Amino acid sequence: MSIRYEESQQTFHLQTPNMSYVFKLIKGAYPSHVYWGPKLRGYSWREKKPAIVSTGFSPNPFPDVAFDLIQQEYPGYGTGDYRHPAYQAELSSGTTVTELVYVAHRIFKGKPNLEGLPSTYVENDDEAQTLELELCDPMASLKVILSYTVFRDHDAIARSAKFINDGIAPMDLLRASSMSIDFGHSAYDLLQLPGSWARERYVERRKLSSGTQSAESRRGASSHQQNPFVALLSPDTNEDDGDAYGFSLVYSGSFAAHVEVDQFHTTRVSMGINPFDFKWRLDPGASFQTPEAVLVYSSSGLGGMSRIYHRLYRTRLCRGEHRDRARPVLVNNWEGTYFDFDAEKITSIAREASALGIELFVLDDGWFGVREDDTTSLGDWFVNRRKLPEGLDKLALSVNGLGLQFGLWFEPEMVSVDSQLYRSHPDWCLHVPGRRRTEGRNQLILDLSRDEVCEYIIKGISDILSSAPIAYVKWDMNRHMTEIGSTALPPECQRETAHRYMLGLYRILDVITSKHPSVLFEGCSGGGGRFDPGMLHYMPQTWTSDNSDAVSRLKIQYGTSIVYPISAMGAHVSAVPNHQVHRMTSLKMRGDVAMSGNFGYELDLTAMTPLEKAEVVAQVQHYKKHRKLIQFGEFYRLRSPFEGNDAAWMVVSEDRSEAYVSYYRVLAEPHEQSGMLRLKGLDKESDYVLEESKQVIGGDQLEHSGLNLPPLHGDFQSVTWYIRKQ
Ligand code: DGJ
Repeated sequence: MSIRYEESQQTFHLQTPNMSYVFKLIKGAYPSHVYWGPKLRGYSWREKKPAIVSTGFSPNPFPDVAFDLIQQEYPGYGTGDYRHPAYQAELSSGTTVTELVYVAHRIFKGKPNLEGLPSTYVENDDEAQTLELELCDPMASLKVILSYTVFRDHDAIARSAKFINDGIAPMDLLRASSMSIDFGHSAYDLLQLPGSWARERYVERRKLSSGTQSAESRRGASSHQQNPFVALLSPDTNEDDGDAYGFSLVYSGSFAAHVEVDQFHTTRVSMGINPFDFKWRLDPGASFQTPEAVLVYSSSGLGGMSRIYHRLYRTRLCRGEHRDRARPVLVNNWEGTYFDFDAEKITSIAREASALGIELFVLDDGWFGVREDDTTSLGDWFVNRRKLPEGLDKLALSVNGLGLQFGLWFEPEMVSVDSQLYRSHPDWCLHVPGRRRTEGRNQLILDLSRDEVCEYIIKGISDILSSAPIAYVKWDMNRHMTEIGSTALPPECQRETAHRYMLGLYRILDVITSKHPSVLFEGCSGGGGRFDPGMLHYMPQTWTSDNSDAVSRLKIQYGTSIVYPISAMGAHVSAVPNHQVHRMTSLKMRGDVAMSGNFGYELDLTAMTPLEKAEVVAQVQHYKKHRKLIQFGEFYRLRSPFEGNDAAWMVVSEDRSEAYVSYYRVLAEPHEQSGMLRLKGLDKESDYVLEESKQVIGGDQLEHSGLNLPPLHGDFQSVTWYIRKQ
């Protein structure tokens, strides 16, 4: 890892173990992108012939430079570059024309935190180097600091920008991307992860075409509908080979990733807070910090790219005591009881769970206020005495007495109209005075841009966490924003509300998780509606989807794995017929799918037959035995559920001494040949023993020939193998 500035050529060369990223100052002033790809020893700049001669429609401020023609690092708008700008500021004069030029730079060890925002981090300064590039527009008194961090152990670059008003008049930021980059051609495929509730992060890949293609959210949350991630892939890139460029935003609110192919077939990628409905007042002396974008390059295809994200996010984005700790096997009562439970029912499920070897009981929605359904009580964080007459403390202790830890569901960012909180503070929700307050799931969203609202949440949640032995929190969020406005902000700052909300949320999460470091937090938003790097910074795991059907989960978990590590994915076995898609699948397949994540059950254990319970005991034991490997190993996708009737993946330990392989076949077909499943990531020089059959097979054979798939009968079948070096 290094960052070098070559004075004579005015080039910056950023290196990670296998990657180089180079840009140059054109005319000593304009940062222009030069190269991003496999690691180079050095970069020797060759002046290109100016293309300007043939392009009369590209205004040229200098005889040999037209901004529309150069590959830029952080472009503006107004002086001849007509592509998507990285930023735009409205000055006190009302004009929006600015031009940033290089002023200075600083290269130093380590990586500073981003104030008030989640980000990747280092544990000591030797792990990273940072370049801060200072740019300014002297006429506008606007200063921008572009930050680039490279990592010693990861082929990733973390980028962000900070805006400073150095003048005496206010200005408004209309757009402030975290990064922008120009590729010299457009022969790429775009990969993104769209979806909806219960169908999150499906993999979509298409050839880039002229114009702008994008992934964005205008919902006030990163959303089920698009994930804050895109990748550019060379046309022949597959799982194992070829160029893969990933762009991932460490942010949980409305975002935009724009990919624009212009008239010259170059490609611009920019990513950051969605400029749609965004404006930020920058008073004299004030600054604005963008979220961080994490750029990853791999020449080992999509799989290589994913593994870089997995390791970086697992070890240097997630934080806290639970980051490296094996995650407990849990049972959650949501699909087992919904709102219909009392202390006796909960205790009976916990008793059953204890006998089955489960380690954590999670009490989901409905334990507070007077909540009997989803129409009331959000915001009233005190115990529902009708259901739990002896209080939470007693219940948690009795669950502990059965040998299980106790976990609790919250939805802290919301308020029900039918609640004591709303009756006392009707102005505490996001709203626009005089307009309808549109409800979603009968609830409104608290205005987290207001300090007093954040303090209320911090106190309410902390009091509950201190009142009982609570070892786990599920932090839910079940609607998207409407009437985005805050009565606490002046008119010129109304369009700051959505981002101020995120800053408030991050502050709340920071305070609560720091105050309760031993609690394991899991994020959730109607399933996986906020499965993003921003939330993972505070909570090392997220509920992947409300769709717990084993077949649906193949696609959801496969798509999620494009960016996010297994240790971040909550995955539970639920009852059949499945509550979301009404499918019947075997307990075996449901278990095998859920075991490729943080494993748990979400059903009424007391309603299971003795045979099913025996199977659960075996599943729990099996998972406990292999969970360290599954949760923290290197993940390889073997077969895509988007491409056929089956899916497979495997996890290999870092030292390649053991691996866990999972294969799923969806529908039975006539005349089926079982075939072979080729493995990846093993040590080809070593032999491996298959745990069940004790057969010994070479790593090279497993990779090039594969494992024999057994004959499978009927729909919805699965097989798993544990193998270890002989
Ligand atoms: C949505 C979550 O995704 C579910 O798991 C459950 O917690 C419900 N909310 C409870 O209201």
